[in-house]
Amino acid sequence: MNILVLGGGGREHAIVTSLAASPKSNKILCAPGGGGKATGAENVALDIMDGKAVAQFAQSNDVELVVVGPEAPLVAGVADEVRASGILCFGPGRDGAQMEGSKEFSKEFMQRHGIPTAAFDSFDREDRALEYLATQNAPIVIKADGLAAGKGVTVAMTMDEAVQAVKECFEGRFGEAGAKVVIEEFMTGPECSLLVFTDGKKVLPMAPAQDHKRAYEGDLGPNTGGMGVYSPVPIVTSDEHQAMIDIMQRSVKGLADEGINYRGVLYGGFMLTESGPKVVEFNARFGDPETQVVLPRLKSDLVDVMLAVAAGDLEGIELEWDESWAISVVLASAGYPGDYEKGKAITGIEAAEELPGVKVYHAGTSIADDGTTIFTNGGRVLNVTAMGSTFKEAQDLAYKACDLIEFEGKQLRRDIGIKAMNGRASWS
Ligand code: AMP
Ligand code: GLY
Repeated sequence: MNILVLGGGGREHAIVTSLAASPKSNKILCAPGGGGKATGAENVALDIMDGKAVAQFAQSNDVELVVVGPEAPLVAGVADEVRASGILCFGPGRDGAQMEGSKEFSKEFMQRHGIPTAAFDSFDREDRALEYLATQNAPIVIKADGLAAGKGVTVAMTMDEAVQAVKECFEGRFGEAGAKVVIEEFMTGPECSLLVFTDGKKVLPMAPAQDHKRAYEGDLGPNTGGMGVYSPVPIVTSDEHQAMIDIMQRSVKGLADEGINYRGVLYGGFMLTESGPKVVEFNARFGDPETQVVLPRLKSDLVDVMLAVAAGDLEGIELEWDESWAISVVLASAGYPGDYEKGKAITGIEAAEELPGVKVYHAGTSIADDGTTIFTNGGRVLNVTAMGSTFKEAQDLAYKACDLIEFEGKQLRRDIGIKAMNGRASWS
């Protein structure tokens, strides 16, 4: 069958790669796609925020399944339009996507369903938010309510920083996304992402992964969309793992009880606190870069799984996982997550991929008209994933591959997964 994937980052490249490995896929189209033909998909120019245009394109190109990668089209209701046109769609509708599209919605949802999360309050007026802050102590967390590409959160270590963050939100730093502000209790502990496939009834947990959100080594610097990730996550105890699965099951049941027919991935971002796992955030889609280590470990046919999710019939499906370790290191442009330049020529991708067990996903690249030279075209440029039979093997391989790839201003974290390998005590 022909499949249309919406998005153009490393996550979508990983999705396309797994779909292409299935004997059931024929042509895979990707809109807008990235990296030229390097991803194995045929890139198409399409406004992925325009649900009617996406549905029309799918109809006229014999597409039987549309997979929505990023959050913005989900929040805009693109999945609803695709389904309304009679085409199967992997991804929640506008109602379910609020779990990511509004922090206030997801926090209130958690409150309604007794899901453990940080205590919070939300405000749509700056004076009220500042009044409330005056009664609190640092550290404290300030979040823009709406979508801000992973950058709308400030973990304020001082009250001055907190006041500054609240003011910036209301002054429009995140546009409409900052018109409401959520102020949250500060939690501590290792983070863990647990993504699940769901058809709105059954929940199929994926392998846990751990992202590294801060820009610099040692978990310092500003939050980013994610700088590197690995899976499995050995610091998670089996009790914690079970608690996270229970929370995801209760969340899906909560959605169903509220009349939301959620079909896609629900991403639980957890913090493993002393009083058990608590939800930091929900996302309505695959994680980026989590997908770049989770899907390479999935042995089951992704087309089967996605079709069953989209059709609301996951009953007969179970997931099988590869025992290997996977790690993915993000190569970013100098300056990311702040301002960065684009258009730097990239070399060494082919040499890196010649190493057995290495796959390079295109996160923010473009290709020259001659079809040969690849250029940087985003903050996060490439995701270098390596698989190995031990963490050390995967790690050595990933960094060897990273060193073969060059572009001006290449920025990476050399400590992906290392803190976790030193055990739980590193977090106390
Ligand atoms: P979010 O976009 O809500 O996932 O937040 C981004 C990152 O900010 C998280 O992955 C955490 O590292 C950090 N963070 C968010 N909320 C909290 C919290 N309540 N306590 C401590 N850190 C947090
Ligand atoms: N890696 C974090 C996210 O996808 O939101």
